[in-house]
Amino acid sequence: MNREHMILGAFFFNPQGDHRMSWRHPRAPRGEIFDLQYYRELAALAESGCLDALFVADHVAMWDTFESNVAHYANARLEPITLLSALSAVTRDLGLISTLSASFSEPYNVARMFASLDHLSHGRAAWNVVTSGMNEEAMNFGGDSTLEHAHRYERATEYLEVVKALWDSWEDGAVLLDRKSGLFADTAKVHRIEHAGRHFTVRGPLNVPRPPQGYPVIVQAGSSGDGRDLAACHADLHFSMCRSLEEGLAYRKDLNERLKRYGRAPDSLKILPGIQPVLTVSEAEAKEKRELLESLVPERMGVDLVSSWCQVDLSSVPLDGPLPDLPDEETYDGQRSNLARLKAFKEQNMTIREVARQLTNSGAAPVVAGTAAEIADFMEEWFKAGLCDGFNLMFPVLAEDMSDFVQSVVPELQRRGLAQTSYRSGTLRDKLGLGRPSNSLAVHS
Ligand SMILES: Cc1cc2nc3c(=O)[nH]c(=O)nc-3n(C[C@H](O)[C@H](O)[C@H](O)COP(=O)(O)O)c2cc1C
Repeated sequence: MNREHMILGAFFFNPQGDHRMSWRHPRAPRGEIFDLQYYRELAALAESGCLDALFVADHVAMWDTFESNVAHYANARLEPITLLSALSAVTRDLGLISTLSASFSEPYNVARMFASLDHLSHGRAAWNVVTSGMNEEAMNFGGDSTLEHAHRYERATEYLEVVKALWDSWEDGAVLLDRKSGLFADTAKVHRIEHAGRHFTVRGPLNVPRPPQGYPVIVQAGSSGDGRDLAACHADLHFSMCRSLEEGLAYRKDLNERLKRYGRAPDSLKILPGIQPVLTVSEAEAKEKRELLESLVPERMGVDLVSSWCQVDLSSVPLDGPLPDLPDEETYDGQRSNLARLKAFKEQNMTIREVARQLTNSGAAPVVAGTAAEIADFMEEWFKAGLCDGFNLMFPVLAEDMSDFVQSVVPELQRRGLAQTSYRSGTLRDKLGLGRPSNSLAVHS
């Protein structure tokens, strides 16, 4: 099943926007980031523009290796499943994508949480499966430093197998609620999973019946080789980062080859690259917006961010010189997508100061600044070239940039027949053109 329209998801990296220091922006929200009403208004805005999903990022630690981070960028946030459960009650069509770490949680708990969110939202739950790569996260779960890269992905792969089996542990139609006979469930349709693997031993069954979508939509976002394999094996949506059309086309080709190896069709995995859309009517306005954001970032913090992307302390290295030798990707245990991006910057001979500025201001995603027509042109070109199925929209400042996008760019995309003007009925899988997975444990189909 293919969709003729782009899939559009609004990504919330920080509650105040995607720019690292968006909280300092004069029009950014303040204490209301811990209040439901703020998110309720963002969700209503998303539904008014028929966006497909809200995607809430997460980490299970404060980013505090460097003192400057704690002081200036306290990345405090609400826990996403809790937040999205509340939003499920005040939205109708929006997909609810929650990040949850497969490195620091147990499959039984997580299978329950997403099954519950899927029931409460009538089939709109999605799980962004991440393999946490920050040392700070490991330190909250009994470790000193992050788990070895291959180990994280091996664990995540088994984790997903267990979670899917738990979702399958109730066949459709297993709930009888037959007062007369006294049968709550048809025991022939409820299965123990008896999983005994390298990382997990889980008996099952789950104590929540099969989610409306069968499996909530599975999202994956790491672009290392291991990350792409996890996506090709298990995911329905893949968030990618690419900086040019050529890079995006090569990326799609690579993922298609991996999908083939797992016996999957190319259109069964939807690819959504991140972009940062910023509506501006003139070059002067674009410059003004860019300079305002840049002025919010303490330089030290930018450099510390680069340090954390490669796990090399750059605090005493000259900022106007090149990046030092970077770790070998094959043996690096941090986030390899980030390291690869730094290597590309190094090849372009950027100085540490320039890289710091680039990371703090636009991260790895391209900034697409311009009029509604110019932003739509960019998106149309990538979409029609076939490198993606839609976009992960990373608004630098919330709610302002998102509101501009919904009010100006969405109508332009709709006029061009590229964005939906109403929601399809059904679950998130139905809306995205993804099939409902069959039940691997079903003996009664
Ligand atoms: C668009 C995007 C969003 C991501 N969001 C999160 C997140 O919210 N939390 C997190 O721990 N990791 C996040 N990641 C990191 C990845 O999911 C992945 O775990 C990480 O990149 C390490 O994998 P790698 O070595 O394959 O790059 C994100 C990555 C991308 C590209």
